[in-house]
Amino acid sequence: MKAPRAPLESKLAVGELTERQARREHARLEADIRTHDEAYYQKDAPTISDAEYDALRRRYEAIEAKFPDLKTLTSLTQKVGAAPARGFAKVRHRVPMLSLDNAFSEDDVNEFVARIRRFLNLKEDQETAFTAEPKIDGLSMSLRYENGELVTAATRGDGAEGEDVTANIRTLKDVPHKLKGRRVPAVCEVRGEVYMNKDDFLALNKRQQESGGQIFANPRNSAAGSLRQKDPAITASRPLRFFAYSWGELSEHPADRQSKMIEWLGDIGFHVNPRWKLCKSTDELLAFHRRIEGERARLDYDIDGVVYKLDRLDWQERLGFVSRTPRWAVAHKFAAEKATTLVRDIEIQVGRTGALTPVAKLEPVGVGGVIVQNATLHNQDEIERLGVRVGDTVVIQRAGDVIPQVVEVVLDKRPKKSEPYHFPKKCPCPLKTDVVREVIAGGEEGARARCTGEFACPFQRIQHLMHFVSRRAFDIEGLGEKQIELFYEKEWVKEPADIFMLEKRNSRIKLEEVEGYGETSVRNLFAAIDARREIALERFIYALGVRHVGETTAVALARGYGSWEAFHDACLKLIKGDEETRSEMDALDQIGDTVIDALAEYFGESHNRKLVERLVEQVKILDAEKPRTDSPVAGKTVVFTGTLEQMTRDEAKAMAERLGAKVAGSVSKKTDYVVAGPGAGSKLAEARKHGVAVLDEDGWFKLVGRP
Ligand code: IVH
Repeated sequence: MKAPRAPLESKLAVGELTERQARREHARLEADIRTHDEAYYQKDAPTISDAEYDALRRRYEAIEAKFPDLKTLTSLTQKVGAAPARGFAKVRHRVPMLSLDNAFSEDDVNEFVARIRRFLNLKEDQETAFTAEPKIDGLSMSLRYENGELVTAATRGDGAEGEDVTANIRTLKDVPHKLKGRRVPAVCEVRGEVYMNKDDFLALNKRQQESGGQIFANPRNSAAGSLRQKDPAITASRPLRFFAYSWGELSEHPADRQSKMIEWLGDIGFHVNPRWKLCKSTDELLAFHRRIEGERARLDYDIDGVVYKLDRLDWQERLGFVSRTPRWAVAHKFAAEKATTLVRDIEIQVGRTGALTPVAKLEPVGVGGVIVQNATLHNQDEIERLGVRVGDTVVIQRAGDVIPQVVEVVLDKRPKKSEPYHFPKKCPCPLKTDVVREVIAGGEEGARARCTGEFACPFQRIQHLMHFVSRRAFDIEGLGEKQIELFYEKEWVKEPADIFMLEKRNSRIKLEEVEGYGETSVRNLFAAIDARREIALERFIYALGVRHVGETTAVALARGYGSWEAFHDACLKLIKGDEETRSEMDALDQIGDTVIDALAEYFGESHNRKLVERLVEQVKILDAEKPRTDSPVAGKTVVFTGTLEQMTRDEAKAMAERLGAKVAGSVSKKTDYVVAGPGAGSKLAEARKHGVAVLDEDGWFKLVGRP
């Protein structure tokens, strides 16, 4: 590190600065910090020490705290998170990093086990053993070792692509740089959780407070913030730990059971959670859950449930996964944490699809380690069911990452003068449209109220744009709520394609002259936009914000169609009522009538079609991960019918999809194979009519090989 330069700052304490002095120094500091960021990130050649850099940031933040007017749109403090994501290179996971489905009750756990048994078609006397282990509340990490040496450490990111944090991870004592023992495969990816102990977290926050640094809300955030540091020396000073519990790519499999793999992870040099147990029945799983829940408060680290994983790895393989969660594992969450607080107000928020959501604005209260100020009230019916009023004391609960909810009103504490809450009849948006209740299947009135403004409603359009640039969608740094609102108001950005036109139009707009912007920040913004001109198909589909098309659905559609052209074509056929396209889409995992109808409705609207067309001109949409093309059924359409004896229907479908085939529900001339078990009826007749090849189960296995 370089020798410290003479301090740049004026000698005055922040409290003694006049407004003019503060403004001048704030501007100078901002320019300096940006130059240092550029030297560090772009040129990889910092010109000051980290301590000096931190001192500049602290002074800058202190000035803003004293003179809040200086906090503009582009202020350096407006960036959330510790370090900018662009500081880290991207890493593609060779084996996707999966997430876990949740179970909240004993019934859910029973159903999880039963589903596995059904899928595998197990006989009553066949035992299903599971490992059970605490679910650590930290960040998942994938560590890649080649010939025993640590080469890359990557965060989970969106499961397909994470951030390269190798330099930071190397500073963790729990992460070996070299694996030990004889059973180390040449390629060996170990996965697990980076976390911080509760005591270490409290001590760190105390130190941060004393030095004027960032205060973290809970150990998880603290671990995340400590890991996303541009300077590994800062990470090294933070007490981060690591538990190994899983793996990614392995050139050889050291064991055939989950339990043996945990032991192996310990043998090659990792900490594994000592509280894991092999359970032979659902009762044992539930007893384990109860025991760990009882111990939770006394553990050194935060946990938010326990994880059950099927022990036999060959069965895990057969079960595969649905979208991003394995069928063979589940997170059994602990009961939600609750707290009592006061409702200060009830606000109506307009979502991107026009749905009106009432939100309780609360007296801030700590629940499960975070401060909660808002809780959803869902809809009008829920407000009526709860009978909640402004001024009420309420019980709120928060489970995992879900939005806090109001669960009950404490009537004894209701103030004498309170009034029942009336759901507004007019939308709070500038159009003041009449609020209508959604109509659901069968013509019944649904629970959700909507603004009828659609494209004319600025609230919806702004929400729509915000969804478009959000982290899981286009992820454009430097475009947040405030910027989108400003750009929309000025009519620079009315729809997604406009974002990509900003730079071209800037000779007219002159963004650098707008309060809060400068040449560097404008350049940074355009660079961030440019960086997103290439986008993965699933992100693109998700970013469109079609109702009911969430991330998981978008992934399923992207995988199913492979390319934007194929997907778009299918959507256009849908609006024409093409039944074949509908059943082809319906055959995709996760996709059903609700999604199909939503896509038809979206693309049926010419405004949306044009908006999409204009956007497509601006970006390059990358094809989705190619389905397998090297199997004998790749690209073929298969229909399963009758009673299958060697595999369950779900298993057959999953296997065919894994091999790159499409599984359809009905037979048409486009069907390539019908796999028929005993009792097959009309589909078999239909196959004969169209001259489609019919196989029995043995014929199927002969064709594709036994897994
Ligand atoms: S297994 C397919 N085991 O929970 C295997 N995950 O909600 C996927 N987590 O992304 C992970 N403790 O970050 C597994 N003992 C444990 C875990 C665990 C914490 C996290 C992990 C994962 C998330 C899913």
